[in-house]
Amino acid sequence: MEVLDILEIDSEVTLPDRYNQLSTQEMEDRIREIKAKFGERLFIPGHHYQKDEVIQFADVRGDSLKLAQICTAKPEADFIPFCGVHFMAETADMLTRPDQKVILPDMRAGCSMADMADIDQTESGWEVMQEVFGDTILPLTYVNSTASIKGFVGKHGGATVTSSNAKKMLEWAFTQKERILFLPDQHLGRNTAYDLGIPLEQMAVWAPIEEEFEYEGDFDDVKVILWKGHCSVHEKFNVKHIENLRKQEPDMNILVHPECTFDVVQASDYDGSTSFIINTIESADPGTKWAIGTEMNLVNRLAQENPDKKIVSLNPFMCPCLTMNRIDLSHLLWSLEKLEQGEVVNQITVPEEVAEHAVLALNRMLDRS
Ligand code: 13P
Ligand code: SF4
Repeated sequence: MEVLDILEIDSEVTLPDRYNQLSTQEMEDRIREIKAKFGERLFIPGHHYQKDEVIQFADVRGDSLKLAQICTAKPEADFIPFCGVHFMAETADMLTRPDQKVILPDMRAGCSMADMADIDQTESGWEVMQEVFGDTILPLTYVNSTASIKGFVGKHGGATVTSSNAKKMLEWAFTQKERILFLPDQHLGRNTAYDLGIPLEQMAVWAPIEEEFEYEGDFDDVKVILWKGHCSVHEKFNVKHIENLRKQEPDMNILVHPECTFDVVQASDYDGSTSFIINTIESADPGTKWAIGTEMNLVNRLAQENPDKKIVSLNPFMCPCLTMNRIDLSHLLWSLEKLEQGEVVNQITVPEEVAEHAVLALNRMLDRS
């Protein structure tokens, strides 16, 4: 797997059994104690999709953009146990000083979407694209990608994007080149390009495994090349869910994340990043009804925190993001107790030669956000 190529992994990466014997209360008390002991030397960022048991200890909660920005603003933090997934911890490592240590409490917290674009596939696909389109393409990658992909994009003059700035970044990209390669999420790429007025007929899909385009039009018309990747969580919302809800509860508002498919986003009332979803719900009128198409931990939290509104998942049989859920109380405590003992486990270290170019791609985004 791609991520393993570029990581330095400590020898002990699995949770010792004793953590399975501790009660929730014991674990919470210990985490509080260690946090108090380290003070500002310890900084815990938490993504909105994290479980409640973990997010309660986050020093800041955020979407991918906010978490990337905040890590650059914590010079006093020696240790950053990242409650999120692997690509977020890599980003934090690249945006912080070399002596600041970023830790992923459970190394199994990857992202299936990020794994859908591997660097060898990207380099060989790029060669084909250069033959077909010449030097007319700028690559953009969703931050939900490995550091190697960010490095590739940075080397070729491109930038990263998040779901909250994708539109702005795509607009910028078109001032640089005639065409865009958008990695690795075809849905965010398609939804954003369509929002900018690019018709579906001008979007080709690149299938990396088959190494071919899925496109039936004239290649001269192509404006956007969409990498054929997706989020396995957000693909579980479909138009049928929306149609059913509209029949059962016509006054229900449908609010989805742009990692959902084009058809779902078109059929919804609103779409946007996790921060947009939270802001929309928080500013909604009491008594309003919302069906939300995003990860379950966030939907459940919004329902608890907004009892004056009716909030349900767009898909009633939805599962949480399994990799986000890998970070739990016991793994968080384990990584913190190790720090207390003077040991760093599960440190995320992006090699310098990858980080050098990846940081260019990240900074091109951060400078415009
Ligand atoms: P945002 O927090 O940027 O909306 O991203 C959602 C996501 O899928 C993170 O993995
Ligand atoms: Fe990756 Fe989707 Fe999980 Fe986000 S929700 S971490 S994109 S698999």
